[in-house]
Amino acid sequence: MTQAKGAAETSSTMESILDEHRHFPPSKVFSNGAHIKSIEQYEAMHKRSIDEPETFWAEIADQLHWFKKWDQVLDWRLPDAKWFVGGSTNICYNCIDRQIDAGLGNHTAIIWESEPLENGQPEVRKLTYYDLRREVSRFANGLKKLGVQKGDVVTIYMPMIPELAIAMLACARIGAVHSIIFGGFSASAIRDRVEDGKSKIVITADGGWRRGKIVPLKDNVDEALTLTDLVETVVVYERCKNNIVMADGRDHWWHEVISTASEHCPAEEMASEDLLFILYTSGSTGKPKGIMHTTGGYMVYTYLTSRYTFDLHETKPDGNGGAENGDVYWCTADIGWITGHSYIIYGLLPNRVPTLMYEGAPDFPEKDRFWDIIERHQVTKFYTAPTAIRAFMKWGREWIDKHDISSLKVLGTVGEPINPEAWMWYHKVIGNEKCPIVDTWWQTETGGHMLTPLPGATTTTPGSCTRPFFGIDAAVVNSEGEEVSTNEGGILVVRKPWPSMLRGIYGNRERFLETYWSKIEGCYTAGDGARKDENGNFWIMGRIDDVIVVAGHNLGTMEVESALVSHEAVAEAAVVGFPHDIKGTGIAAFVTLVGGIEETDELKAQVRNHVAKELGPISKPDKLRFTPALPKTRSGKIMRRLLRDIAAGREITGDITTLEDKSIVEKLQQNSD
Ligand code: PRX
Repeated sequence: MTQAKGAAETSSTMESILDEHRHFPPSKVFSNGAHIKSIEQYEAMHKRSIDEPETFWAEIADQLHWFKKWDQVLDWRLPDAKWFVGGSTNICYNCIDRQIDAGLGNHTAIIWESEPLENGQPEVRKLTYYDLRREVSRFANGLKKLGVQKGDVVTIYMPMIPELAIAMLACARIGAVHSIIFGGFSASAIRDRVEDGKSKIVITADGGWRRGKIVPLKDNVDEALTLTDLVETVVVYERCKNNIVMADGRDHWWHEVISTASEHCPAEEMASEDLLFILYTSGSTGKPKGIMHTTGGYMVYTYLTSRYTFDLHETKPDGNGGAENGDVYWCTADIGWITGHSYIIYGLLPNRVPTLMYEGAPDFPEKDRFWDIIERHQVTKFYTAPTAIRAFMKWGREWIDKHDISSLKVLGTVGEPINPEAWMWYHKVIGNEKCPIVDTWWQTETGGHMLTPLPGATTTTPGSCTRPFFGIDAAVVNSEGEEVSTNEGGILVVRKPWPSMLRGIYGNRERFLETYWSKIEGCYTAGDGARKDENGNFWIMGRIDDVIVVAGHNLGTMEVESALVSHEAVAEAAVVGFPHDIKGTGIAAFVTLVGGIEETDELKAQVRNHVAKELGPISKPDKLRFTPALPKTRSGKIMRRLLRDIAAGREITGDITTLEDKSIVEKLQQNSD
């Protein structure tokens, strides 16, 4: 192992997560204005949230609107948790009406930017809480007219336009269960989800814009519906005016559905444990799992995590007739992912902070799309993924320097481990060394943030998602369930229930028990490996199935990847194991180079040696293959099982329908090690 390098960093400095000793405490100015101002305050509150969860969560739930208060905060019968039992509420009411009741109806709820039009300018729509209630109520009444009832599963397959938010909130308003499918998925994904959820209605659009092209959403739905005959009704929003076929009796235009619908639709009283939505997430094997989230606990937890993780502040009167500007929040995810569900809509709106959603892509029409949006809307809190950050690094800082992004105050990251190089770049180039970075670890299943810094309280370290959120009792254990010692790798578990935990896998109790509750007795297992350092900070080491055992040594793929990208020629890297005659498992690295650098055998050797030098010879990749890009799913995750097949010289067997760019597979196969 190399020595810690302290604060010195050049692109060729080893920044292995095991060696990371840089610490970034929040500034005094930031802490003073924050909800949670110090680590002592965090620790005291965290202790209380674990020792007295019922009083802790009751106080938080009290901040929101309930038609009827609960009788019992928590009913825990392992592995089933019920929260706010006996209470009734409506999350749509809490997202919209509660703000209107407080006199904020004219405040902005959602800011939307279209993909730039032909003149290069985007269309911008701002919806106040009044606008949102009107549109949501009209569509909710339209759904009722089409026969949708409380408890029905409504499939939504839409582009990133306000109507996607309106459709989901309309479902929540009338108690229908939405099942949102990411607009980048294909017909077979729609068919699978419709059938699994037994959904009779699909809401879609004619198309959506992405990089100047139309994504043919309605055509995809039509194709899916040739494969299943469950669906009786399709509602189509007219977005791109592309040619589509409307099936008589089955298909209805959105504008016609709402044309005669009333603007008043009371929010249904939902029992706290009524199902709110299903969201499919892929498992390591088999068909996707329909993760179930219910109403009360999910609402309370996403509200609180949004508030504290991003330190959200609403616009308030300043006492002199003016207003103190509050936050403008932007999460770049698609609503089709859990990140969009929890941290564009459901957790954000109850916090009375405008939430921005955008249509399109970060590099269209130019690679400064994000910085342009931030500058024009004066975004203060920004939430994106490591894969995007690494793309920005590759494109170069000149795209950022064209804009004034000094409005930014907190930067968030989610979705995969962030390598320290990318963290430092985010900190310096985007945050100008003044914005706390919140590296949030969580999952579709957890509903909300589980391990995360709180920006006014936590001292951060590049690559660590730091400490558990309130109410989260996380630990790193061995296969017997015993806590491992400091800095030792193990299995990440959660030992106590939390309000937004998944309530099951739709229609598959066995798989729910087997996947999450059978590995370590009494604990939720997330499927991630982790370690905890001497400061109590957690470090995610990747999925447990990403850990490779080379000649008897446990190596986190993340660690080797970090070493690879610390070489100045390397832009991005992915590492997998492959069957090796001598070692059992060998290390195969797939590497993309920084733009303009030539792929030579000499460079290959240099990069491999670089890893050996930084991590020790055991970690030196046995094979290294250059590739123009890594195979990623549409949510930006590297598809490792595909790389494993390629590294092993096997035929690719698994499903690759979720791959963003399928041509990569061919290119990968052509290149040699
Ligand atoms: O492996 C972890 C990784 O993403 C998984 C969850 O994926 P998904 O359900 O699609 O949700 C993504 C958005 C919450 C986790 O099991 N992951 C997510 N966030 C992080 C992460 N790994 C390391 N650091 C993170 N901040």
